[in-house]
Amino acid sequence: MKRILVTGATGTVGAHVVRELHERGATVRAFVRSATHVPRGAEPVIGDFEDLASVRAALDGADRVYLCAADGPRKVAHETAVIDAAAERGVERIVKLSAMHADPASALPAFRWHGEIERHLDRSGVPAVILRPAFFMTNLLMVAGGVARTGTLYAPTAGRRVAMVDVRDVAAVAAGTLLEPGHAGRAYELTGPSAVTFAEVAAALAEATGRPVRFADLTEEQARPRFEGAGLPDWLAAHLAGVFGLVRAGGFERATDRVRAITGRPARDIAGFARDHATAFTPAPAPAAG
Ligand SMILES: NC(=O)c1ccc[n+]([C@@H]2O[C@H](COP(=O)([O-])OP(=O)(O)OC[C@H]3O[C@@H](n4cnc5c(N)ncnc54)[C@H](OP(=O)(O)O)[C@@H]3O)[C@@H](O)[C@H]2O)c1
Repeated sequence: MKRILVTGATGTVGAHVVRELHERGATVRAFVRSATHVPRGAEPVIGDFEDLASVRAALDGADRVYLCAADGPRKVAHETAVIDAAAERGVERIVKLSAMHADPASALPAFRWHGEIERHLDRSGVPAVILRPAFFMTNLLMVAGGVARTGTLYAPTAGRRVAMVDVRDVAAVAAGTLLEPGHAGRAYELTGPSAVTFAEVAAALAEATGRPVRFADLTEEQARPRFEGAGLPDWLAAHLAGVFGLVRAGGFERATDRVRAITGRPARDIAGFARDHATAFTPAPAPAAG
């Protein structure tokens, strides 16, 4: 049985990658910063991307690696450290979580970092699979409290469609490409089953919560202060504004059939996501009086 190291194992996608691999009977090691946050089904390997010795030690005895560090200015250093240690140890496959529009020349910080890491991985000689998902449905959770409070979903989309993808499907593809043959050297763009407008997202949230949810499509000028004033790091505010620029240019409108082709199941749609996360978009009940 192959031994698989999952980095970013507590993350939005990584936690599902661990679950999928465990359910499929794989031997899973989770690279985690703390022994108190070990996903079920994985043996912990404690370390930190900033501590190169811990990265190298984690790779000892690993056959395959799921690669994902957090976005941020240290992302390229973190993921290239794993790639270099994997190359030294003769790791047989890395599955890298990248992003649609990854490009070392991108003006969007996270897409540029992914492009630089993809290039490094290509030059490393380690057989690799690149996963390039579109917009995660879970991004909607960032505004779930606002939707619950105001009954309004705000976004600057110019009415364009987004083939948003459920992270559980991204994780299922990651597990499939880690375990099965025939994927090395490939790059897969991952989307939901079809592209949806944010008005359709609002309708799905209304249906799932049983409360009205309307969509307010903002102009770029109306949206800018929302990104800049959200208390986010500058790079993230710039990245999110850039992502919606791509949305308005139609950059996320094309759906692919990769999820179904690799997992054998249809990709989850926005209605299912809305049902599974309805509580987050619903106001908390008022505390009982007395
Ligand atoms: N959001 C989207 O629409 C979208 C679309 C396409 C691609 N993506 C890409 O998806 C990736 C994010 O995936 P995700 O959401 O699963 O990740 P995430 O939730 O941001 O999780 C990041 C993981 O990295 C770990 N980590 C952070 N710093 C670390 C360190 N110094 N040493 C060891 N571990 C560390 C975190 O562990 P702790 O629990 O210890 O913090 C966590 O497990 C990004 O690269 C993003 O560009 C996102």
